[in-house]
Amino acid sequence: MNYHKKSVEDVDVSGKKVFLRCDFNVPLDDKGGIADDIRIRGALPTIRYLLEHGAAVILCSHLGRPKGQVNSKMSLRPVAQRLEEFLNIKIPMAADIDGPIAQMMSNGIRPGQAMLLENIRFRPEEEANDPDFAKGLAAMADLYVNDAFGTAHRAHASTCGIAKYLPAVCGFLVQKEISVMGKAMENPEHPFVAILGGAKVSEKLKLIEKLLMEKCDSVLVLGAMSFTFRKAMGGSIGNSLYEESLVEEMGQLMERAKDAGCNLLLPVDTVVADQFQNDADIRTVPAGAIPEGYAGMDIGPATVEIYTSIIESARTGVWNGPAGVYEFSNFAHGTRAIASAVANSRGVSIIGGGDSAAAVDQMGLSRRVTHISTGGGASLEFLQGMELPGVACLQDAE
Ligand code: 3PG
Repeated sequence: MNYHKKSVEDVDVSGKKVFLRCDFNVPLDDKGGIADDIRIRGALPTIRYLLEHGAAVILCSHLGRPKGQVNSKMSLRPVAQRLEEFLNIKIPMAADIDGPIAQMMSNGIRPGQAMLLENIRFRPEEEANDPDFAKGLAAMADLYVNDAFGTAHRAHASTCGIAKYLPAVCGFLVQKEISVMGKAMENPEHPFVAILGGAKVSEKLKLIEKLLMEKCDSVLVLGAMSFTFRKAMGGSIGNSLYEESLVEEMGQLMERAKDAGCNLLLPVDTVVADQFQNDADIRTVPAGAIPEGYAGMDIGPATVEIYTSIIESARTGVWNGPAGVYEFSNFAHGTRAIASAVANSRGVSIIGGGDSAAAVDQMGLSRRVTHISTGGGASLEFLQGMELPGVACLQDAE
């Protein structure tokens, strides 16, 4: 995949109507308020640049998975409000997306003004990548800008279909995502360490294989997915979560890694609990010796020590997935320690979205990390070397 794409700075935006696809898929709290606005903040540099350079901006995003139906719980209204606070301008909303009101509003906006289309996934044509729908969206604008990195792995009407009908370039967020992560994958500085956690090894299997066999000096496994590997080694994992259907494959993967001279590390100790709650009976035991009735909830202190020293001396580090059930304070130590180690490393540090990004943000360490991807699934696919439709559709840089 070509990581070098034209950006908003490579085209004349002055006096243009710009269709700007963002990823405002933010988590909402019980009252429908925005629980975390990191994705909205991530889009601000491009929005500001366009407004300051004389463009009129038609903002577009999805929120959640409304499956082609209007669902007021997934309205982008709270996002419009938050954008107004950040940008200090009015952001009127077009509820009919590509209907007559949206058309009238997009005809009427002037340079320096912006509007927001309602949740694009209220329309089934979005996920179907319907060409007529994409053409209708394109008809509102002169230029398409994709800054929705989090959704770049989806081939939808507003993430790639529209690029057939308009000149298409990236925004600053997509540009940063693909250049920092692209460099790490194309030409990483060594030692290159990947720290991979989370619940399911099945979701990260391709990534582990790719990093292990082609790129990394070490892959450090964490989180519940380590128990599938541990099971393959024949240890006792008590009641810990694991994926039975992958045990054999993980055993073979460990053999291949050994033959290829790759360093695949598993936790050496585990914090276990007799119940899935914060105030359970908690013990630290050697990995592979988890008693019956107990499940692994976090990595132990010996693992933290080993992993920390490897991460801190890396020249390139990629982290995706928490070390344990970090929502419970008693099992957040491992994830917090990994976040600190990534922040302390003197090399290029990349965090691949989702829970790891939230952990670093909550700990106030974001500024000490080279790059925090706004994409969960998108960053995983990117790091696996898969082509992202929302990037592939953009014009190549000269
Ligand atoms: C995300 O949150 O990962 C993106 O916004 C994509 O959302 P999706 O998985 O519903 O396509």
